[in-house]
Amino acid sequence: MEQQKTLMEVYNKASYPLIGQRKRNMQVLKEVFEQVDGDLDSDIYGEGTVIDDFQERMASMVGKESAIFFPSGTMAQQIALRIWSDEVGKKKVAYHPFCHLELHEQDALKELHHLEPILLADSTRPVLLQDLLDLKDDVACVLLELPQREIGGQLPEYEELEKMSALCRERGIKLHMDGARLFEVLPYYRKSAVEVCALFDSVYISVYKGIGGIAGAVLIGDRGFTEKSKVWKQRHGGNLIGLYPYIVPADYYMTENLPKMEQFYKEAVELASYYNNCHSLKTLPEVPVSNMFHVHSELKKEELEAIVIRITEETGVGLSHIIRNRAEDGCFFEVAIGDRYSAAPRDAVAEAFCLLDESLRG
Ligand SMILES: Cc1ncc(COP(=O)(O)O)c(C=O)c1O
Repeated sequence: MEQQKTLMEVYNKASYPLIGQRKRNMQVLKEVFEQVDGDLDSDIYGEGTVIDDFQERMASMVGKESAIFFPSGTMAQQIALRIWSDEVGKKKVAYHPFCHLELHEQDALKELHHLEPILLADSTRPVLLQDLLDLKDDVACVLLELPQREIGGQLPEYEELEKMSALCRERGIKLHMDGARLFEVLPYYRKSAVEVCALFDSVYISVYKGIGGIAGAVLIGDRGFTEKSKVWKQRHGGNLIGLYPYIVPADYYMTENLPKMEQFYKEAVELASYYNNCHSLKTLPEVPVSNMFHVHSELKKEELEAIVIRITEETGVGLSHIIRNRAEDGCFFEVAIGDRYSAAPRDAVAEAFCLLDESLRG
């Protein structure tokens, strides 16, 4: 008997996958290094032109004094919170219950740094001013994730952000941004990276999400902060002898992809409306505020998977590669727009959504 193909297998073979940037294969790296002079020196343990130039570019793009490249955002953010905790002299830090540190880092903040996270807000919405006003604990730092990925990429309104920043300054609380997808939210805010980052004491940005690099992150702030982060990077084993295989692609793809953020945001709004026009599906947020959103269904995960697999096989349009169970009944999947969406022919996309609606009604 022929074995059922998994959603991931079908998606990976789809002619028109709608989610994400290009395929993560060796070509991503080859394309970059074809353009690079082979005599260019590697960075060595965090020093050298390749790393210095990139760090300066990032710092000046967001209007801060200094930036340091890290192999991962996980490492960078734990370090940021540790530095602020030591500086303020308090062990507590506050953040959203669904932020990356709470869900995906195996309690590293507690295990490695003995910090005590205080969870802000109910998990269905982003952190708001009232959550900070209600905060009873004396915290060193508040971390805000923009956009809040695990709830579909929701954002506080910009005025709310300004008020939260002002309150933190007034109360001597450091404000750190998980800006893994910072550039992806700028078109909605209609603000520059400099304006948004001015509200924060420190900022982390991923170089492999919208920017499209291989892996890595930058931690940005004033020089005193980043100098301390270099010491912690070494303590964490993150000061690799050469980080250029990550830095050179980040630099290259950033130039290529940053100008497309407005387009990705508009396409996310368009694609979300396709989903919302389908029987029984809802996106979160209903109208996206970045290049991402979640699609929610009351169906069982296996039922929706079977429908999506069939549509992908019939039309070539890949809607999702992974569908997850919700805590309550039903299921959802994440959509993040990159180059692939605009490459899909419009008639194939329209046909796929027609079939999706029909199948859901059936
Ligand atoms: C919002 C957010 N913060 C932090 C991280 C951690 O980044 P890294 O994979 O570089 O450790 C991620 C990764 O997915 C993320 O989505």
